[in-house]
Amino acid sequence: MEFRTDRLLHGGDYNPEQWLDRPDILEKDIEMLKEAGCNAVSLGIFSWSTLEPEEGVFHFEWLEEIIDRLYANGISTILATPSGARPKWLAEKYPEVLRVDESRHRNLFGGRHNHCYTSPVYREKVALINRKLSERFGKHPGVILWHISNEYGGECHCPLCQDAFRGWLRERYQTIDRLNKCWNTTFWSHTYQSFDQVESPSRRGERELHGLNLDWKRFVTERTADFIRHEVEAIRAGGSTLPVTANLMYYFEQLDYFRLAKELDIVSWDNYPIWHKKELIETAYDAGMCHDLMRSLKRKPFFQMESCPSATNWQGVSKLKRPGVLFAQSMQVIAHGGEGALYFQIRQSQGASEKFHGAVIDHYGGTDTRVFREVSEVGAALKSLSELAGSTVNSKVAMLYDWNSQWAMNDSRGPRNDGLHYHEVLLKIYRAFRRRAVDVDLIDMEQELSGYRVLVLPMAYMFKAGFAEKVRAFVENGGVLITTYWSGIADDTDLCYLGGTPYGLMDVLGVRSTEIDGLFDWEKNRFVPVDGNALGLSKEYDCRYLCDLVELRGATPVMTYGSDFYEGYAALTVNRYGEGSAWYVAADADREFYADFIARVLQQNGIEGAVADEIPEGLEITTREKDGVRYYLYQNFGTQPVQIPLPQGAVEAVFGDPQKALKPCGLVVLKGGCK
Ligand code: GLA
Ligand code: ZN
Repeated sequence: MEFRTDRLLHGGDYNPEQWLDRPDILEKDIEMLKEAGCNAVSLGIFSWSTLEPEEGVFHFEWLEEIIDRLYANGISTILATPSGARPKWLAEKYPEVLRVDESRHRNLFGGRHNHCYTSPVYREKVALINRKLSERFGKHPGVILWHISNEYGGECHCPLCQDAFRGWLRERYQTIDRLNKCWNTTFWSHTYQSFDQVESPSRRGERELHGLNLDWKRFVTERTADFIRHEVEAIRAGGSTLPVTANLMYYFEQLDYFRLAKELDIVSWDNYPIWHKKELIETAYDAGMCHDLMRSLKRKPFFQMESCPSATNWQGVSKLKRPGVLFAQSMQVIAHGGEGALYFQIRQSQGASEKFHGAVIDHYGGTDTRVFREVSEVGAALKSLSELAGSTVNSKVAMLYDWNSQWAMNDSRGPRNDGLHYHEVLLKIYRAFRRRAVDVDLIDMEQELSGYRVLVLPMAYMFKAGFAEKVRAFVENGGVLITTYWSGIADDTDLCYLGGTPYGLMDVLGVRSTEIDGLFDWEKNRFVPVDGNALGLSKEYDCRYLCDLVELRGATPVMTYGSDFYEGYAALTVNRYGEGSAWYVAADADREFYADFIARVLQQNGIEGAVADEIPEGLEITTREKDGVRYYLYQNFGTQPVQIPLPQGAVEAVFGDPQKALKPCGLVVLKGGCK
């Protein structure tokens, strides 16, 4: 099921169930939503106890009335399944629905996300209400999309989940001998005789078998994906054929989103950047990369399901968004290929733990607020950008974003338990491409590489079977590969490769990693250019945290280390392989290095960004394409107005004036022909 819209979505989470005794407020809300240019709300996310106040007693009339009224006013509904939080009666009557934590204690009723994904009772109750919602609303013209549960996360260690885990392992390994081999269980004498003996990892028990820890994380992802599928099947059983989404979270460590996305028709995510802690542009790169990750999960448009219109109540300091920042944040979703920007929440709760969370309509309740005005500006802009709906981002660069490698590296004990800085490394590389207005996809090891010209593998610790061959073919066929230290170290059961690393790519890269040095936080080494190097690099750059010592096996050194016993050893190398080239960055080099290095690699390979010139600091330029038209989106996240560099060829303005200096937080959108 494709999700298609001819307009960009604007709206947010709406909780009318908290206001059923105030029809005056509900009526006014609709007027205010229209005034703010909202065209969609998500309903029913935490409504289970209102929808089914007693077991088997369903009250949907209030919801129907609201969906009808919204629809009559041009506002669509994204209808949620209520599984994110269960009613008290359910937990009381069937305690098995409550989660068991890692120390094997069952939780009390309360909070949300507090349920077992395996429990047959929970599954049955969720399926029943989902099916009924689907029967009642699945064909309502006002309902456009299903919002499955809310921010899936967490894990359950109950006996039912333990059994499911064992079953999953049995399928994966077939024999216990194979599991023992893959988990290296002879280490500390932890050999299993049967699958029935396996227990999920626990601080009170087994945590030393990395294969177990990793498989448990994979199982948790699989359980969650299976639960999503179960929810969707119930919706289908109720007759609805509408597409489904689930709201994902910012670089969420617990779940492999590439796997989860397979269960969804469109990806959406909850975007809560902490602006104003650093320069806006720093946060913009971080949020931008996350948008790109979300888009890349399905290599399709996505949207922002939640974000705060003013200040959240859960960040350390509840900082108000400075004027214009909401606009910039919302437009950034569109700039990175999104189909709309929604908020949490439309109307602020009167009590309980989110009563001070920002909202489109606050406790005061009027339209004459700064936030309401800014939300309305976003609404108007999204409306005038409608023609961008359905356009896609066609990136020439792919960077690996790998949950499995992260899980394994974070668990691995060595080479640097004080931090590998995975996220920061990705961000440095990402930023270097952005500085050249080059769009980037973030992919996993399963995605197709054809169509990309550059592939970046930062700390690709764990290789899936067949991945090295795929990368080899990519380079052979003319691709540019950039690999860093700590890549190709272990197979996908976290057994270290024997015979040299980066596994399967030593000839492609022309190097073998021999040893890796961990640096204290306060230590540094340097990248020093080799005279007459192929990239014409002439500056020195700092590097820290991890320094890989490589043996050259055909590669040409481009930079070398500047100090320590490995002074003069290669720190950046290049190797020609087939029609392509393969770069190896041996240490965690600084941001300036990546900026210069990547700019030159792009230039050398004739890979152009959206504009030819260097981009002024603070400016972000992204592109989207549709029907032979290319859109150029310019956003100023800097502190000063800037004159924007124009793309080559004829362009016309869709939004803003390209001749005038672009103000901080402003947007210009141009369009021209596709290249
Ligand atoms: C998450 C949840 C929402 C709400 C917001 C608050 O994104 O999905 O229900 O709690 O956080 O920021
Ligand atoms: Zn469980």
